[in-house]
Amino acid sequence: MCGIVGYIGTRAAAGVVLSGLKRLEYRGYDSAGVAMVEDGGLRVERSVGKIAALEAKMAGDGSLGSGATLGIGHTRWATHGAPTEGNAHPHVSMDGKIAVVHNGIIENHAALRAKLEAKGYVFKSETDTEVLAHLIQDAKAGGAKDLTEAVKEALRAVRGTYGVAVVSADEPGRMVVARQGSPIVVGLCEGETLVASDLSAIVRHTNKVVFLDDGDVATLGRGHVDVETLDSGAVDRAAQVVDFAADAVEKGGYEHFMLKEIHEQPEALSNTIRGRLLEVDGTAKLAGLQLEPRALAAITNIVVTACGTSYYAGLVGAYAFEQFAEIPSRVEQAAEFRYRNPIVAPDTALIAISQSGETADTLAATREAKRKGALVLGICNAVGSTIAREAGRGVYLHAGPEIGVASTKAFCCQVAVLVMMALLLGRTRHLSNATGTRMVREIQRLPELVRRTLEQDGRIRGIAEKLAGVRDAFYIGRGYMFPAAMEGALKLKEISYIHAEGYHAAELKHGPIALLDEHVPVVACAPRIPGYEKALGNIQECRARKAPVVAIATEGDRDIAALAQDVIEVPPCPEYLAAVPVVVAEQMLAYHVARLRGEAIDQPRNLAKSVTVE
Ligand code: M6R
Repeated sequence: MCGIVGYIGTRAAAGVVLSGLKRLEYRGYDSAGVAMVEDGGLRVERSVGKIAALEAKMAGDGSLGSGATLGIGHTRWATHGAPTEGNAHPHVSMDGKIAVVHNGIIENHAALRAKLEAKGYVFKSETDTEVLAHLIQDAKAGGAKDLTEAVKEALRAVRGTYGVAVVSADEPGRMVVARQGSPIVVGLCEGETLVASDLSAIVRHTNKVVFLDDGDVATLGRGHVDVETLDSGAVDRAAQVVDFAADAVEKGGYEHFMLKEIHEQPEALSNTIRGRLLEVDGTAKLAGLQLEPRALAAITNIVVTACGTSYYAGLVGAYAFEQFAEIPSRVEQAAEFRYRNPIVAPDTALIAISQSGETADTLAATREAKRKGALVLGICNAVGSTIAREAGRGVYLHAGPEIGVASTKAFCCQVAVLVMMALLLGRTRHLSNATGTRMVREIQRLPELVRRTLEQDGRIRGIAEKLAGVRDAFYIGRGYMFPAAMEGALKLKEISYIHAEGYHAAELKHGPIALLDEHVPVVACAPRIPGYEKALGNIQECRARKAPVVAIATEGDRDIAALAQDVIEVPPCPEYLAAVPVVVAEQMLAYHVARLRGEAIDQPRNLAKSVTVE
């Protein structure tokens, strides 16, 4: 999704902004641009494709060496208008003095454009963003006393979502940024201020940050920021120090971020569970929930809402809530929850799961649940993200930044948090200390389960060679393995572009089995957990249609080895944890297939890391 970086300070802005933009490459984009305030004018450079192309262009015409100390930059993921240089940001006002970068969507852009055109403004792009540049010029021309006032006036005319950064050739000592539904974080250092849509773009420079809230407009100077709201005056947004290691956004010797993140999972899981399991009491301690046992015991229903991989983790969680806490639980795709006017019974806890904490539909579902009186809990990875802040209570994954577009470590850590929640909720009800203690010990083994699964790498590479040439694949599972099957199919399709479907194993016979033949492999998620015998039957059905079967099975399972063409072994574990090693095996399989096919694993086509628009 689009990315914003800005700098005002004492160093050359071009270098700082470009290096920040590179940190945002993982989000997915198709063009990039920068604007610098230089010698009383603007210097704007844009190009289609990667930031390296923009950098080469700037090196060619000398702008890379510009001494400008105020600049903004953007990576664009096309929504309104094709990915062309003309549509790339920054967009500039007609008088050439104001440059704007924008994330989000201006919903009433067509009406605003018509009004501005009637006033004589000439548009150069097809984007919704360009209206902002002209609106700001118009506000200045109408008497706004400075850039901040002009930006506020322009934004009052706008309907939609935005994170924006604006500079003016007439005001080289300030940058104005604002947020409504699209994140903006300001970083403060001595004599310098940075801004970005994502923490990872600025942590190399500072960990002292201010997160803007919706409706905030901030004026940035060299080393300071003044925040006010769109409708009233100054507000206090305290700076906070974030714990975020800059090298966490490096590949650390791995060929791809995805591979690094797959291998980080044992450590990530240790970080997720550290200090949260109480063996003697046989329960979990999740302080971020800020709920006493009495409040936990009062929860009568759970609704989990999320998208993509987080949704599949949510399914695992819902099974565990019903199994261990006996609380009726359902999982809703976040866009459905936000629009279908769901019934939220009294004493419902809504759990919003989001790695990024910025997914537009999940955020909107969270707000809708609040309006309906639910107790809202967030499970997020990105610290300070919008969902985490708006939920107000919840559990952080502590998995470290996830850069690869394909979500990996977030899934495993989400499952870890969800099963700890199930344990805690169970213990406020009928679950005994003995069962709780057993679960604590089992959950503590998660890092080890993943470590052992990672040892299957060589075998998985071999299987990937057989799958790399196929056009279609099925993933099947039942019980806790149903979400694992869907997650495996999602991983394969998003990075290898092989058409893959995740199905409940029992559902195959209701239609999809018609597609099976010797060219359509089936990945069967079939460790020895409840439902295993039936899974064996389903594998037999696939074999009878000549489909090659890759079974993900428990170590040493000879029965499956006799049935399937290939087996990936995972260590034995209880059913409620089995999705973790199985999904890790699927991640590796998808990774190796995509690598053999030569695909852009960390930035698959058409995809963005965080889907901040509908
Ligand atoms: O940041 P979130 O967890 O809210 O993101 C949800 C989905 O967009 C995300 O999981 C997506 O499906 C990934 N590309 C899956 O690998």
